[in-house]
Amino acid sequence: MLNKIATLHALCFPRNPWSADEFANLKNQGCEIIASQNGFIVYRTTIDESEIITIGVAPDARRGGVASAMLALAERDAKSHGAKKMFLEVEITNAPARALYESAGYTAVGTRPKYYNGIDGIIMSKDL
Ligand SMILES: CC(C)(COP(=O)(O)OP(=O)(O)OC[C@H]1O[C@@H](n2cnc3c(N)ncnc32)[C@H](O)[C@@H]1OP(=O)(O)O)[C@@H](O)C(=O)NCCC(=O)NCCS
Repeated sequence: MLNKIATLHALCFPRNPWSADEFANLKNQGCEIIASQNGFIVYRTTIDESEIITIGVAPDARRGGVASAMLALAERDAKSHGAKKMFLEVEITNAPARALYESAGYTAVGTRPKYYNGIDGIIMSKDL
């Protein structure tokens, strides 16, 4: 399963692929992973806040609602474990991801200038 997620991650983030061992480490650190044939989401809930660590959908499965569905599952699970807010961070230039998060009700709450190799990061959140 973690090998499959690592393969999907490499398709989604070719400049920075994570190995199966890295996903195993995330699980050991308390992260939750939801994965399907075409996509994955990793998130971590700490007391009353949760954070999306990564999300991706295989290129040939995009625009089919896979990411929205995984996001909704993660939000529901985080809420059931006490989270009142979900946070995430996205590159300012990542238009598909920003559109996904905005369509799911996230709003920008801050920026991290030059966070991604000189590209600004936007912090977004949503009340659960
Ligand atoms: C961002 C990503 C996860 C979206 O996955 P997806 O399964 O295609 O998203 P969905 O089909 O659930 O899209 C939900 C909504 O988000 C918006 N959206 C998603 N992709 C979009 C795009 N390329 N252009 C414009 N809007 C987009 C739309 O509003 C869409 O609803 P619609 O299709 O009914 O118009 C996917 O493009 C991906 O894996 N990208 C590479 C990895 C990445 O950047 N991850 C996010 C890091 S922060």
